[in-house]
Amino acid sequence: MHLGVLTSGGDAPGMNAAIRAVVRAGIYHSCRVTGIRRGLVGLTAGEAEPMDLGSVADIMHRGGTILHTGRSPEFQNGSGLPAALEVVSGLGLDGLVVIGGDGSVRAAHRLAEAGVAVAAIPATIDNDVSGSDQSIGFDTAVNTIVSSVDRVRDTATALERGFVVEVMGRDTGHLALAAGLAAGAESILIPEVPVSYDEVCARLQRGLERNKLHSIIVVAEGVAPAQSVAAEIRGRSGMELRVTVLGYVQRGGSPTAADRILAGRLGAAAVAALLAGHRDRFIGVRGDQLVECSLAQATGAKPVDQNLFRLAHVLSI
Ligand code: F6P
Repeated sequence: MHLGVLTSGGDAPGMNAAIRAVVRAGIYHSCRVTGIRRGLVGLTAGEAEPMDLGSVADIMHRGGTILHTGRSPEFQNGSGLPAALEVVSGLGLDGLVVIGGDGSVRAAHRLAEAGVAVAAIPATIDNDVSGSDQSIGFDTAVNTIVSSVDRVRDTATALERGFVVEVMGRDTGHLALAAGLAAGAESILIPEVPVSYDEVCARLQRGLERNKLHSIIVVAEGVAPAQSVAAEIRGRSGMELRVTVLGYVQRGGSPTAADRILAGRLGAAAVAALLAGHRDRFIGVRGDQLVECSLAQATGAKPVDQNLFRLAHVLSI
């Protein structure tokens, strides 16, 4: 069997560990493996390279993706599909493993509908793929944010200031919620829950009354730019606030052990699904169990865990 593998969309820590798992599991099962460079953009352009055991040595601990990645508007509007199909058949691929986020899973679905055997696995710091509790890269990004907020808190305490810290997540709040909870943020603002500035200001006020020296407000980028959130709170409370936008540091860095293990499990399972003859497969995780479904079933809105949000609210009283 000849397998292709590509990474698509925003890079996520652990993508390299997933590529390694696909290549190694594929070769273990006597497959030939070809890497497609630059995601779906490279697929339409036929940017392919053979992968052997050595090609994935010494990459598991590195962030980014050795295959590079890309965002393909041509795949969103369908115009890139014919060229991609030509490349798949020209290379003689029997199956393709797509490693990426929600948009990539949708693109994988389009390829499968057009007849390509596809297995997709979730990799995005946004953790917004509905078919899986956890995406490769999410745990690392949460840890990166938490260690950044810990540092911000040091200076917040030293100067007795409040900080608004903006984190990524596109239009979802999974990343902000998990990181805000783990960092002990005083308020967490996410797009899925209406923002109450009265509540945010009341919390700041209560903190001041208890002689609290710092306050951290974590805001998901999907809510509003941190500067305007800070301006709103400043206007209402008169409190001095500084802003930190964490930006792309959240996407880089060495993956955590949990992300490496998840990448290994999902990558090997994707190969197994294609070897078993599945042609339209998504592999994710529920709790600690690997689960499979069709690609169409794996996309769509993924609600945030409201219990987790309530817990954060209670613990940061
Ligand atoms: O999807 C991952 C992500 O980092 C989002 O959190 C963010 O909104 C987006 O990618 C940024 O995209 P780009 O790399 O194209 O600027």
